[in-house]
Amino acid sequence: MLTIVKHPLIEVKLNIMRDQTTKSKEFRENLDEIASLMCFEVFKDLKTHNEKDNIKTPTGVTLPRIRLDYKIILAPILRAGIGMCDGIKNMIPTARIGHIGMYRDEKTLKPIEYYFKLPKVENPLVVVVDPMLATGGSAIAAIQAVKSRGYNDVRLMCLVGAPSGVKAVEEAFPEVPIYLATLDEKLDENGYILPGLGDAGDRIFGTK
Ligand code: PRP
Ligand code: URA
Repeated sequence: MLTIVKHPLIEVKLNIMRDQTTKSKEFRENLDEIASLMCFEVFKDLKTHNEKDNIKTPTGVTLPRIRLDYKIILAPILRAGIGMCDGIKNMIPTARIGHIGMYRDEKTLKPIEYYFKLPKVENPLVVVVDPMLATGGSAIAAIQAVKSRGYNDVRLMCLVGAPSGVKAVEEAFPEVPIYLATLDEKLDENGYILPGLGDAGDRIFGTK
């Protein structure tokens, strides 16, 4: 199921990211901030529980200590997914981080996996993270890689999606919820999202 996280703050920050004159530092800051804002929607259904010990407020009231029921693993697709992790970690400091090394072959647009490591945690919620969902090839390969290691509770959190990428992921994994900050129009002939924001990895890491 696709959820588009709509919010005026996200709209403004995304617009800054789309601007070709925006430099790496500002691009990264806005990406992190949008990732933080998206957490409100992506994790809104998580349950909490009361711990056995209590907290005491400065006003002298005793309350139960509340914790998330879930163990969360963030699984950024390298490289660009890394750019969203601090923003999510700021909201969920207990989240663990794995890494999925994957890049698109420039000609075939097919994903090539070169690294995979997730923390060993029992029954975690794994959130595959990547700013760009273009053809969907990388996300599908990443989710496949996660599931094949026995992790079954998976969500996909991206920033900008193309309709064809969303459709491809939905067809491959109808049970995986997809979250985007925006659904853009289409892909160009090189597989870039239009209007998009260009090559996310290059813009985050200043490699162009
Ligand atoms: C980008 C992006 C996604 C992928 C999306 O990564 O970060 O992982 O492309 O495209 P897709 O939906 O068509 O698979 P890229 O391959 O450029 O690797 P990089 O982050 O290492 O630059
Ligand atoms: N990868 C990117 O970084 N940008 C796109 O528009 C498509 C794939």
